[in-house]
Amino acid sequence: MRVAVLCETDPAEPRVAAVPETVKKFTALGATVVVQSGAGTKAGVPDGDYEAAGASIAGSAEDAARDADLVLKVRRPATDELALYKSGTTVVAIMDPYGNEDALKAMAEAGLSTFAMELMPRITRAQVMDVLSSQANLAGYRAVVDGASEYGRAMPMMMTAAGTVPAARVFVMGVGVAGLQAIATARRMGAVVTATDVRPATKEQVESLGAKFVAVEDDEFKQAETSGGYAKEMSADYQKKQADLVATHIAKQDIVITTALIPGRPAPKLVSEAMVASMKPGSVLIDLAVERGGNVEGAKAGEIVVTGNGAKIVGHLNVPGRLAATASSLYARNLYAFVETLVDKEAKTLAVKWDDELVKATNLTRDGQVVHAAFQPKA
Ligand code: NAI
Repeated sequence: MRVAVLCETDPAEPRVAAVPETVKKFTALGATVVVQSGAGTKAGVPDGDYEAAGASIAGSAEDAARDADLVLKVRRPATDELALYKSGTTVVAIMDPYGNEDALKAMAEAGLSTFAMELMPRITRAQVMDVLSSQANLAGYRAVVDGASEYGRAMPMMMTAAGTVPAARVFVMGVGVAGLQAIATARRMGAVVTATDVRPATKEQVESLGAKFVAVEDDEFKQAETSGGYAKEMSADYQKKQADLVATHIAKQDIVITTALIPGRPAPKLVSEAMVASMKPGSVLIDLAVERGGNVEGAKAGEIVVTGNGAKIVGHLNVPGRLAATASSLYARNLYAFVETLVDKEAKTLAVKWDDELVKATNLTRDGQVVHAAFQPKA
């Protein structure tokens, strides 16, 4: 079993799909690991560290991928990369399949068996493989660090000989994995933290982290969580009530961190231009939903926008990538945990159990076809 770890072709992607720790584990499974030279550079892993862990280094993607049974990547291989892989290769990555049906078709036609890590079911057995959680957790942490660094004042209350500095007020909108970590981080940095969400279960979670919960808790709120644990899209009436509540609250905040997402839908707009305009000069908004359309009006992907009233709207892309070393090591462990389930340990070969629920949920293409039910060509 030959495992290849390739460089990411997107220049905006500094993460890498394997770290020395997982190379050792793959080797212990009986695999031969080949790493493309430079694959770990942006994540702080030099070629020599991979070699010390038992991998061999290939000079090019072509050399690494040739004869690979399994290719590990962070992002879906670009279409022009597919020619490097032999037909029948298994590829595991964050595939970003929604709206990219043509790319899935190209992978199918290249004869690849592909698996999308972000489609992993959120069940207990698969928690160790949950890339959405491992990466969102880091994004939530980094959002607070970025917020603190853009903010021209201190985060904690400070009582000094020269007088008292008040604590920063941080408001977290959307309390999933990223939001919870943002609350915990902002609290540790000494901010006064409030948070909102449309799922009632989050109220207790917010309070248990020592923050105050702010939300419109009407009948619709009580029904807002799907059986899968995600948020529903809220009615226009609820959105109006939510906006009224948020408008008065936001004007008093120093840092706002938005993380709200609805699966398969654009991100809900939670902060209007008028709300941003009500904030004090020097306030900071960090929009973690910017890649899905953004929660903040005026947020621009990949940019820091300074508004007329002197607030900053920060729209960094690939926020987990801003912690490339940590994000890579957690992602690599997620990958290893999944791939281990695809291996016959006696025969030391890939032996995918096609009826396993984790395989069924994540397998996009196989035997020349797009096999995942959610991505079938429309009739
Ligand atoms: P997500 O990234 O889809 O959304 C982030 C947050 O935005 C969610 O809390 C959502 O309720 C909130 N949101 C959506 N619309 C909103 C609106 N209009 N106003 C305010 N907030 C809004 O969520 P994530 O982080 O993927 O977590 C979803 C759920 O999955 C949570 O219940 C989480 O605890 C659960 N989960 C379960 C795991 C497991 O293995 N059992 C692992 C990870 C998460």
